[in-house]
Amino acid sequence: MSYDLVVIGSGPAGYVCAIRAAQLGLKTAVVEKRKTFGGTCLNVGCIPSKALLHASEMFEEAGHGLAALGVKVGAPELDLPKMMGHKTDTVSANVNGVAFLFKKNKIDSHIGAGRITAPGKVEVTAEGGAKTTLETKAIVIATGSDVMPLKGVDIDEKRIVSSTGALELDKVPGRLVVIGAGVIGLELGSVWRRLGAEVEVIEFLDRILPGMDDEVAKQAQRLFQKQGVKFRLGAKVTGAKANAKGVTLTVEPAAGGEAEQVQADVVLVAIGRRPYTEGLGLQEVGVAVDERGRVTIDDHYRTNVPGIYAVGDVVIGPMLAHKGEDEGIAIAEMLAGKAGHVNYDAIPAVVYTQPEIASVGKTEEELKKAGVEYNVGKFPFTANGRARANLATDGFVKVLADKATDRVLGVHIVGANAGEMIHEAVVLMEFGGSAEDLARSTHAHPTMSEAVREAALAVDKRAIHI
Ligand code: FAD
Ligand code: NAI
Repeated sequence: MSYDLVVIGSGPAGYVCAIRAAQLGLKTAVVEKRKTFGGTCLNVGCIPSKALLHASEMFEEAGHGLAALGVKVGAPELDLPKMMGHKTDTVSANVNGVAFLFKKNKIDSHIGAGRITAPGKVEVTAEGGAKTTLETKAIVIATGSDVMPLKGVDIDEKRIVSSTGALELDKVPGRLVVIGAGVIGLELGSVWRRLGAEVEVIEFLDRILPGMDDEVAKQAQRLFQKQGVKFRLGAKVTGAKANAKGVTLTVEPAAGGEAEQVQADVVLVAIGRRPYTEGLGLQEVGVAVDERGRVTIDDHYRTNVPGIYAVGDVVIGPMLAHKGEDEGIAIAEMLAGKAGHVNYDAIPAVVYTQPEIASVGKTEEELKKAGVEYNVGKFPFTANGRARANLATDGFVKVLADKATDRVLGVHIVGANAGEMIHEAVVLMEFGGSAEDLARSTHAHPTMSEAVREAALAVDKRAIHI
């Protein structure tokens, strides 16, 4: 079988790349070793986690939020199998959607493990061991990432789980200990707390959400604590032993000191993800990887071996589905002789907790470090009419604009629906817009998004409602 392009991996980076390449007339195949398409994101990541985040949020609303609006529903009852069923149906609809899109775009799919045997040759090993070799002009590696293991804490996906196991628990743990106060820890910790678990998060650093704007992370931590999540910062887990009663963790101060034992019914290990290249044959064909195991690429997604490219979680950059998708589109366009492009300065990041946390561009700390002079405009949701009506006044919007040019360099939002609101900032930044541009754009009233405009007005100290 001979192709213009073979994509290895059908996650957001791979499947989107294949579709765009097929749209542009390239004869394209995808190799996927999972039984379903869509990668980590659709099968065990973005999609199932959001199904459980939404369902658990509804459960919490029914229990606490609705009464304050004058809606009495009595104590809600959890039907966990039904909630998990909703998650499974959501995943199925999405992964089947990708299969449909492959057919529609006449993309050949090969289920099996892909291995590059030479430039232009991908060997596919099916489950039963049968091997097929695909010949191709170009190969795109989009094999994604996998859970980062923690020494001394063996994941069994029952008592000591990764995100995958945490999406599958068959009962609500009495006490859940999360290792890592990053995105997964906070999202999945929130799910199980809402459903009744006592949740403690153990984090190595002295802050949560490293990489996010400091002020945003601090505010978020306060809000999570108010919801009942406990944080143990500046602490490291050095061992975990599962037994009949649960799990006993050994925890030490990050800086060193006396060890302590912490009990849990379930432990979620969420200390990051690492690039996945096992069995791909990279060493044999001489594809270079960096010190963290990421496939090394240039700014055209080319590896050091001609004809082999890489995109998504397996390469440098934030491990986000939309970053991978955009890289997939860019490389497909380049392979078809067009000018593919990703603007790495305007990639949003969203934590889908309640409230949501959304961010694009630089944080204050990054600007300070780079010596860039900036103005800050801030606006709290307590001063927004729609937020009051919705009882969603937690959080704020912060706009960071270049002091000399007023160009927006970063926008950070803590608030309900922050993940939807951030996109006007993304588009603004994509067009190199200023705080003044945002401030002069009419925003419908009453909307939460008015707070974004007010924060832009606040850059020039002329917000109306504070
Ligand atoms: P992947 O999605 O990991 O796909 C790679 C695919 O390649 C896999 O299907 C794998 O089976 C296949 N593969 C690997 N090796 C081979 C081989 N040799 N042969 C054949 N196939 C192979 N990101 C967001 O942007 N938003 C979110 O809300 C979000 N939520 C997440 C929640 C969780 C719990 C997790 C774990 C991740 C989440 N992410 C989220 C991150 C997101 O899932 C990843 O950034 C994204 O999936 C990366 O896409 P990818 O295509 O690079 O790789
Ligand atoms: P993460 O990198 O977001 O957070 C890991 C956390 O663990 C960090 O705070 C880190 O300091 C801490 N840590 C590391 N080693 C530790 C140790 N030994 N003990 C205690 N703490 C330790 O990684 P996470 O949450 O596992 O997520 C993995 C990736 O998946 C992220 O890169 C993220 O981008 C992606 N993802 C994205 C989501 C989204 O966009 N909403 C949702 C879930 C995951």
